[in-house]
Amino acid sequence: MFLQNEEGAEHGHVSGRSSAGCGKGTVRIDEGRSTMPDLRGRVAVVFGAGSSGAALSNGRAAALAYAAAGAAVVAVDRDAEQAALTARLVGEQGGRALDVRADVTVEDDVVAALDAAAALGSVSILHNNVGVATPSGLADLSRSAWDAALAVNVSGVFLTCKHAVPRMVAAGGGAVVNVSSVAAIRHPGYDYPGYMAAKAAVDQLTVSVALTYAAQGIRANAVLPGLIDTPLVGDQLADEAAARARRSPTGRCGTPWDVANAAVFLASDDAAYVNGVCLPVDGGLTARC
Ligand SMILES: NC(=O)c1ccc[n+]([C@@H]2O[C@H](COP(=O)([O-])OP(=O)(O)OC[C@H]3O[C@@H](n4cnc5c(N)ncnc54)[C@H](O)[C@@H]3O)[C@@H](O)[C@H]2O)c1
Repeated sequence: MFLQNEEGAEHGHVSGRSSAGCGKGTVRIDEGRSTMPDLRGRVAVVFGAGSSGAALSNGRAAALAYAAAGAAVVAVDRDAEQAALTARLVGEQGGRALDVRADVTVEDDVVAALDAAAALGSVSILHNNVGVATPSGLADLSRSAWDAALAVNVSGVFLTCKHAVPRMVAAGGGAVVNVSSVAAIRHPGYDYPGYMAAKAAVDQLTVSVALTYAAQGIRANAVLPGLIDTPLVGDQLADEAAARARRSPTGRCGTPWDVANAAVFLASDDAAYVNGVCLPVDGGLTARC
């Protein structure tokens, strides 16, 4: 049984996304409701849209998932062939895509990539997937390797946000999705001091963007993948695949689709009131320890 709220019926426009008074009970049953994220008319820029191996990566899955939800996709990667392959795969599934070569640690590259993205329209989704994890004990970590870990894992996110967010504000708003890691909040069982520190910084950079720009129509959230079956770790940890799966409360590694589906939700209007969140996508791994 539903109780009709007269005020809601009268105004007929109040949804969970409006600025109407909180607590008035004016949300209509058919407002703001959807059965799947709808990104039609959006342009998503995916930095790190390629793959470091033959299998599906988080970045490529994100590009394909955004496109499946209706967004046009700008596939950016420092490896031009990888960016082009992702764009081609988006095209093969009926989507619109553009590929751009850019290194996220090079500010001019980031600006040029965003300029190129304008060919598909105003960018309203910024997805930061680039991340590189090089195992090393602390005492063995060279200063240059430390600097490189911070440059690629967090300075790249700073540069893309710095240049994309003002454009998104000017175009009416949008969503930032940063791919962090459970290594930002837990020791992952492997020694990655630079990677862990950088991913923790990504989380707080996400919160900073979220709160700085919330009133200007920007939401920013991070996805923290757990043990995901991707080429990034496949090469390094091939011998540990079964052990990695056992570590997860679910008994399996996650897939790039698990990560991409969370990103599509966070980028969509279905997550219109989700802001500044660092969301583990880890099968409960971090809830347990
Ligand atoms: N696989 C896991 O278990 C796991 C767990 C936690 C977090 N993550 C995160 O997922 C993300 C990567 O996942 P993936 O599967 O797509 O990795 P991937 O290595 O397959 O793909 C990353 C892409 O980024 C590109 N890239 C690297 N450095 C770049 C740079 N400086 N500029 C532009 N492009 C660059 C690479 O060419 C590659 O195509 C990272 O942020 C990583 O930290 C993965």
